[in-house]
Amino acid sequence: PKRVGILTSGGDCGGLNAVIRAVVRRARDYDIEIYGIKGATQGLLNRPVEAELLDMKRVSGILRYGGTILGTVNKGNPFSYPMPDGTLVDRSEEVIDGYHKLGLDALIGIGGDGSLAILRRLAQQGNMNLVAVPKTIDNDLGATENSIGFNTAVSVAVEALDRLTYTAISHSRVMILEVMGRDAGHIAVSAGIAGGAHVVLIPEIPYDLDEVCDRLMNRALRGFPFSTMVVAEAVKTPTGEPVKYTNSLGQTLYGGIGQYLGDQISTRTGLESRVTILGHVQRGSTPSPLDRILGAAFGVAAVDLIAEKKYDRMVAWVNREVIDVPIADAIAKYSAVDVHGTLVRTAVGLGTYVGEIEQ
Ligand code: F6P
Repeated sequence: PKRVGILTSGGDCGGLNAVIRAVVRRARDYDIEIYGIKGATQGLLNRPVEAELLDMKRVSGILRYGGTILGTVNKGNPFSYPMPDGTLVDRSEEVIDGYHKLGLDALIGIGGDGSLAILRRLAQQGNMNLVAVPKTIDNDLGATENSIGFNTAVSVAVEALDRLTYTAISHSRVMILEVMGRDAGHIAVSAGIAGGAHVVLIPEIPYDLDEVCDRLMNRALRGFPFSTMVVAEAVKTPTGEPVKYTNSLGQTLYGGIGQYLGDQISTRTGLESRVTILGHVQRGSTPSPLDRILGAAFGVAAVDLIAEKKYDRMVAWVNREVIDVPIADAIAKYSAVDVHGTLVRTAVGLGTYVGEIEQ
């Protein structure tokens, strides 16, 4: 039988296991063996190569599990691999060698734009047959309307907002929810609409802090002394500073704009504010039904592509269908929130402040 590897790369999210299960189930129809590679490309780098034959028993029941049974690495780039002494070394040839050592005919890579760019470079350099499946809670891949994990992240954010709304009402407070999304505001806009937020701030739209404060004060004056706000992690301060921090491992991460805004709002309005940074709770949840469906559809389609020997393609969800697009196009097509699109117009139509939109 043909031997096909599968790996998950980049941040985990809801729906990854749904893809793995679907791939294993569909592979039976073509007499393909599926090898699960451990910890993204790290499994191909390690010696012996770390991979396991995935059979029906191994994937039984994993549909409803969060995370990935294969493990993943978020910041592991074999082209500049961090060595224990702090140097960065190109170890791409070892990864490629790992693929060939396993005797693979093709590889299914599940990742976001960063991971897919690395996997494609490896595939081109090392004569590897790659098929990609898009996943990212940030939903910032432009070639697909939905990436695995986004819907689960939005569901978690909405649940959080529902809970925070009760506290906002009970305490007459401004409750601020800071959500993930990297440089895009997709999670914030969708969660803001579904969770009935009064203010939604995203990196794609500049905002006026005085206007935010006026809106909150006006609500209080009209007899609604409580408000909820969703802020995307990449929103900058009014003077244009991103709020990031670098941890002891040298990793730079977003986090903290919510607290900054909460302090500013309380200082300027006298309203009590509290901030919740939702963080990785958005990634680790049980996958939503939509992400399970998407994962299943992508997994089946990815195996079909391999059976047809259609490589260097990414499966994508467009107009209620799974299609396939060149991976290069998918990487190049970044998707920010459309400032004049339906979701932003919907939020505005609901009376939500989403920033200063130029006409
Ligand atoms: O890209 C997914 C994401 O969860 C972003 O929304 C977030 O900024 C980042 O990853 C967090 O990365 P890490 O898992 O390394 O903390």
